[in-house]
Parts: sequence; C-alpha cells; structure tokens
Amino acid sequence: MTEILYLVRELPGQDLEPLRPHLEIRGGAATAPVRERLVEEARGATVLAPTYIDRVDAALLDALPTVRHVASYGVGVNHIDLDACRARRVLVTNTPGVLTDATADHALALLLAAARRVVEGDRVVRAGGWRAVDPAFMLGTEVTGKTLGIVGFGRIGQAVARRAQGFRMRVLYACPRPVTDFPEARHVPLDALLAESDFITLHTPLTAQTENLLSRERIARMKPGAIVVNTARGAVVDDAALAEALASGRVGAAALDVFRDEPRVPEAYLSLPNVVLTPHLGSGTRETRAAMARLVLEDVLRVAKGEPPRHPVP
Ligand code: DGY
Repeated sequence: MTEILYLVRELPGQDLEPLRPHLEIRGGAATAPVRERLVEEARGATVLAPTYIDRVDAALLDALPTVRHVASYGVGVNHIDLDACRARRVLVTNTPGVLTDATADHALALLLAAARRVVEGDRVVRAGGWRAVDPAFMLGTEVTGKTLGIVGFGRIGQAVARRAQGFRMRVLYACPRPVTDFPEARHVPLDALLAESDFITLHTPLTAQTENLLSRERIARMKPGAIVVNTARGAVVDDAALAEALASGRVGAAALDVFRDEPRVPEAYLSLPNVVLTPHLGSGTRETRAAMARLVLEDVLRVAKGEPPRHPVP
C-alpha cells in the first residue's frame, strides 16, 4: 500500500523533504479543514498528523479506515480517542519532552504576570491611567518565598518546581504517586495543597479523572486570595466557578493559557481585570514548535520504514 501522510494543519518549522521518498504528503494548510473536507482530503491516508487541538475520534477513524498511525503534534492526547485507536489497531505517537521547558517557562511567566499585575498595568499605562506617583498604586503580591502548589508532577510540573526554587518558594505537589528523586518538593494530598498554596499551577493531563478537578468545591477549599495558573488543559477547571471566585476576590487572580473549547474563551473571564489570558502559548516558541514537528515527522518516517516509533503512546 502507498504510504500517505495527511497533515491536518501546517506544522511550524517542518522539513518534509526527508519523508518524500517514503510517503506521499497531503494537507498541511495553515488552518485545519472542517471535518467533511478533512475526510475527503485525507481519504486513503495511512498516517494522520493532527495537532493537540484536532479531535481524532471513532467516527473519524471509521471514515478513514486506511489510517494505521496517528502522529500527534503535542504531548497531551486528550483530543484522541485512545480506546478507539486501540480497538482499530491504530498506533498513536506524540511529542513528549521537547516542550517541557517552554511550557514551564510560560507557567512562570503567567504566575509572575498575575502576581505582579503586569498585563493590567500595561493596560492602565496605555489607557493614560497612570497620572500620579502613588506608592500604593496597583500593588501586587510577592512571589519570592511563597508556597507553590503543583497539581500533576510529571516532566512539566517538575520543571516548574525547579524554576520555583530560584524564587525560594516552598513547593507542594499533588499527583497519584510521590516522585522520589525530588526531595525539595513535598507530596501532599490535593486538599492540603489547595488549603496551603499561595499559587496553584496545573500540570495534569486531561482524563476522565481530572476533568473539572478544580471544581467549585475545591475552589472553596483554596487559600483565600490564591492565584491559579493553568497551562494544562482548560477542562481541568470549572470555568463558571472560577470566574465567580475571581469576581468576588475569593481567588486573587488567574492566568490561563488553555480553554475547554479553544479558541473560544469563556465570556466571563474577558471582563475580569484579575485574569491574564494567553492563546495556548505554553509550547509556543519557534524552537519548541519546530522540535515538536521534528518529533512527529521522525516517528512518521521510522514507522514508514518499518522501524519502531520513538514516542508511542501506551
Ligand atoms: C501539548 O503538547 O499538549 C501542548 O498543550 C501544546 O502546547
């Protein structure tokens, strides 16, 4: 069978030339086609390369029965129905590792921006609202020495913890199993983390267990005035509950990079001054996005040549 790779959208910094002798390449437009068009364009494809935002469900796999490999651009795989892939013997690969630092950097950037009111301050200055020198104007909250709660302590959570050490933060983390080689951070139950943390940063994958993990009840258990950072997945948070808590000041601020239904951002956040919003930029550096594309294409090529992939999703 001719190997055909269908790129759901263009991958930045991609070099497709090494693949051309092995596969026919289709797709790769700047924006993803709607589902019907995608199915038409990808008909006959043996490899499908979606990005972290493109849904791959049972219906799509059934519409594209020749697909044997889903090579996803991104580390999160919540957009892929893994059971449906398994049932159809479709291999799934992803791009772990290369986006750890960029995502951890962005989490820190958001944390600092929210704590020190960077975006709000920028808006005030641009609007001509800085008229007098006033030492009590637009005060933020200190980061150095505070308690950071990290929910999910995989590669990215740990990279955030390492950065937090530079701010002499006390680091707590909640995840199913303690990480033994990170003695500087303390493994605690989620409730303790919520009660004790000045900053809570989310780094858990989105699964049935973590959907709405930051629920109304859990938000109520957070330390008053705490700041929430989310570079994981939007659906980990109950947006209505968080927006209400931000409006009342129960939650001091939030910095959100990810949303349940991207690129749609819940209306309730847009008018809140204590919310910093970025458009899923966690991995958004030229270097990292190119490295992600390299990993996708490397596994596409390996599999096309009959070699085992480097990054199969278990
Ligand atoms: C991923 O790879 O899952 C990230 O969310 C992309 O930024």
